[in-house]
Amino acid sequence: MKFLKFILLLITINVSAQQGGMWIPSLLEGMNEEEMTNLGSKLTAKDIYDVNNSSLKDAIGHFNGGCTSEIISDQGLILTNHHCGFSQIQSHSSLENDYLKDGFWAMNLEDELPNEGLYIEFIVSIEDITTQVLSGVTDTMTAKEKQSQISKNSNVAEGATTKEAWQDTKVKAFYNGNQYFLFVTERFEDIRLVGAPPTSIGKFGSDTDNWVFPRHTGDFSMFRIYADENNKPAKYSKDNKPYKPKHFLPISLDGIEEGDFTLVFGFPGRTNEYLPATAIEHITKEFNPSNIAIREAALKVIDAAMKTSDDIRIKYASKQARIANAWKKWIGENLGIEKSNAVANRRKFENEFTTALKAKGLEEKYGSILPEFDTLYNDFSEVNIRRRNFIEVFIVTNELMQMTFRAYQMEAAVNTNPEAFEKAKERLIGTLKGIHKNYNVDVDKGVFKAVMPLYKYTASVDPSIYEKSAFTNLESALALLEGKPEDVLKKLNKDAAYNYAKPIIENFIKTIDPEFQQINQAITALQTKYMTALMEALPDARYFPDANSTLRVTYGQVRGYAPRDAVYYQPVSYLDGVIEKFIPGDYEFDVPKKLLELYESKDYGQYADKNGKVPVCFLGTNHTTGGNSGSPAIDAHGNLVGLNFDRVWEGTMSDMNYDPEICRNIMVDARYVLFIVDKFAGATRLIEEMTLVHPKKK
Ligand code: ARG
Ligand code: GLU
Repeated sequence: MKFLKFILLLITINVSAQQGGMWIPSLLEGMNEEEMTNLGSKLTAKDIYDVNNSSLKDAIGHFNGGCTSEIISDQGLILTNHHCGFSQIQSHSSLENDYLKDGFWAMNLEDELPNEGLYIEFIVSIEDITTQVLSGVTDTMTAKEKQSQISKNSNVAEGATTKEAWQDTKVKAFYNGNQYFLFVTERFEDIRLVGAPPTSIGKFGSDTDNWVFPRHTGDFSMFRIYADENNKPAKYSKDNKPYKPKHFLPISLDGIEEGDFTLVFGFPGRTNEYLPATAIEHITKEFNPSNIAIREAALKVIDAAMKTSDDIRIKYASKQARIANAWKKWIGENLGIEKSNAVANRRKFENEFTTALKAKGLEEKYGSILPEFDTLYNDFSEVNIRRRNFIEVFIVTNELMQMTFRAYQMEAAVNTNPEAFEKAKERLIGTLKGIHKNYNVDVDKGVFKAVMPLYKYTASVDPSIYEKSAFTNLESALALLEGKPEDVLKKLNKDAAYNYAKPIIENFIKTIDPEFQQINQAITALQTKYMTALMEALPDARYFPDANSTLRVTYGQVRGYAPRDAVYYQPVSYLDGVIEKFIPGDYEFDVPKKLLELYESKDYGQYADKNGKVPVCFLGTNHTTGGNSGSPAIDAHGNLVGLNFDRVWEGTMSDMNYDPEICRNIMVDARYVLFIVDKFAGATRLIEEMTLVHPKKK
């Protein structure tokens, strides 16, 4: 009995020792492979990543540089999130064809819709070239000199790599610049929209449920990769054919239950797990709050306007989602950091680090790092906020200010080089057209009045510029840009909005941004040194590289969690919960009639769980972040069981402070995806091209 207890203890230690991490796919042998096996995986490191044979990695594509997507048929069918395909779905939508509201399903290949500019990129190979990149870099160099040596070496390495004509290379820094990898990539550019559920499924619960569990969102959409006659990447052509992939993911119909192994494979964007306490304090106490306030003010205006007209709703859908998403995440992040005592804990850890430095005689080499961080962040905090506030107002929330900012960039380009006029003008015209495609001057003026007072570095808030400026209307904006360069600049400098914004922009360009860059560079360099010092002083700790938009593996298990005293969240949600949340006619919680009917008639086909219910979402202990949206959740055998799309509210702090007790990722169950495609949309041709498997039935 005692022995059994001991064994059980060992098992629990093993599971709870699972501390997260986003691992490099080419380096899984050793520690990760063993840990994965202990968590229930039957996959070898080579099943996941293999340069010479097809492997799971060949099915994982970086979707437009921001999300993840995966191939789920031998016809290049792509699965990603609804919110990842959102701007494409929006751009095909109009009042007549409202694909946001009604969904879209191409019933044959001819109906699949091309998307200009959209691309999916795959990883061909990954190689550690640290020695090469750091050659010639010495301790006596300044941060600038080091950086320029590193760029030079990286360029040489990129140029010297053998690759096919349609492939690309890039070098990326890991462990804050302590390790470097070279990636060979392959980019497909003919990507067509195949299907998307209505927003009332794909974005069910909208902002209220965003970042929250229990969750009931069917956050998926489908695309298809087209390739040329040789099955190679090509620009859009109607003659292109569905891509035949090296690998695609079979889909499991057996689903998941608590404790099952899950692997999430994708392109996490950015994390900062090794920040000093002083940085976490600055971000959550000063930086986040000021940006939250600006977004909140903008959202109040945009949200209200979207409810008044379908035209505004469609135009502002994508923008609103973008603004609201980070706004809510930052609030959760602040709460989580506070509640988990992250700052105090990080200080405690720093004391351990300092003790270890002393014990190992490393004090002289690294002892000044932490005090230096304190000094740097002290100087940094104000300018960091100023700079970000400018971005929030002039790029994220207010469109008229954005147009003046882009116009300023044109003027600046011409002032440094008069020849640059035509090119700079073309770029500006492109931006103006993009903005005006989804522009409503009243909404924007409302946003201006709301956010400008929060930009503390402005003398006045003058909404009358909206009546006088040429930029509020595409035609007059384009007319302003006609003529000789001198005349255009003259006209531009007479424009009311431009005149208003120019001194603010100049202050940003000439004062705020350079000051920010200078301190930021010093912080980055110190962070590199800190990482080196950590690994030297505390070599036995678990170090995983921060996310940097490269392909990573994160693994864990299906698990619920206890966010508060006496509360436990089950790991799986069901269609019953959709019905519980249903509010007829509500903009967040309406449910399509067809889905209600399917629920009534229990017409679930092969997609129900053992308990007879249709699973919708589930939780895992996979360590994910922004960019992991659309990543496949893969079972112990390499089959698709879900689609990652979010994290839980209490765990959004995981970008700075991963806590295995409380941090969970949220996935849509693959069976819900299939159920919607098959039973709801009737797109059976898509089900037929997939490979549906039963790994649990031997
Ligand atoms: N929170 C998820 C992510 O970070 C989903 C976002 C979907 N957008 C929304 N406003 N509901 O991307
Ligand atoms: N929804 C996020 C994304 O767009 C993923 C959620 C997260 O940040 O974990 O990538």
